[in-house]
Amino acid sequence: MSLRQAIVGQFKKPRGYFGSIAGWIMANRRSNRERNHWTVDLLNVRSGDRVIEIGCGPGIALETCLLRANRGQVVGLDHSQTMLDQARARNAKASQEGRLDLRLGSLDDLPATIGSFDKAYSVNVVQFFPDQVAAFRKIHSLLKSKSVVATTYMPRTKNPSRADAFNVAEEVKQNMEIAGFTNIRIEELPMGPVPAVCIIGEHP
Ligand SMILES: C[S@@+](CC[C@H](N)C(=O)[O-])C[C@H]1O[C@@H](n2cnc3c(N)ncnc32)[C@H](O)[C@@H]1O
Repeated sequence: MSLRQAIVGQFKKPRGYFGSIAGWIMANRRSNRERNHWTVDLLNVRSGDRVIEIGCGPGIALETCLLRANRGQVVGLDHSQTMLDQARARNAKASQEGRLDLRLGSLDDLPATIGSFDKAYSVNVVQFFPDQVAAFRKIHSLLKSKSVVATTYMPRTKNPSRADAFNVAEEVKQNMEIAGFTNIRIEELPMGPVPAVCIIGEHP
């Protein structure tokens, strides 16, 4: 296995030395930072919002979210301890103040006692959900009425095309609909080699 393969193989659940490197790449790659900030912008996070990020990784989007929800609360969920450690270090002040709640675990296992949210989002995570409808049903159960869900995706296949991004976006849109979301739209962020797409829906 090449060094590149060893690192790329980490993105689903980063751990150990190569997992730390994968986290560093996510936190420092300009295009990834851009996708993360764009997603938070699309969510229109407000000062008092309670927000959850599924698969927060090294905590890039959490940083932006905490600036916007400056009187609210932000939860970062990830099933990788390596990623939670990086997210905590990056957002140490908010974590100490209790404005950021970092949770180790999988979306499936998140207890209902966590309470309900105004916004829920993920970036580069939807492709890892083994059952997207079940995942969006779970997210639906975490959201308040009149709240918003957003998920951003960019194809990582060999020689990806814009059509690949939109095919996945359409599939995600359908799965969100089955899970109970409405007014779902697809946004596009032009970047190379393919655009990122964000699928945004409302909890009725
Ligand atoms: C490709 S990384 C993206 C990280 C971050 N969102 C970003 O864009 O920089 C995917 C992240 O999602 C996490 N993850 C994948 N599936 C998950 C699940 N079912 N529950 C919680 N975390 C998950 C992984 O551990 C990893 O940190």
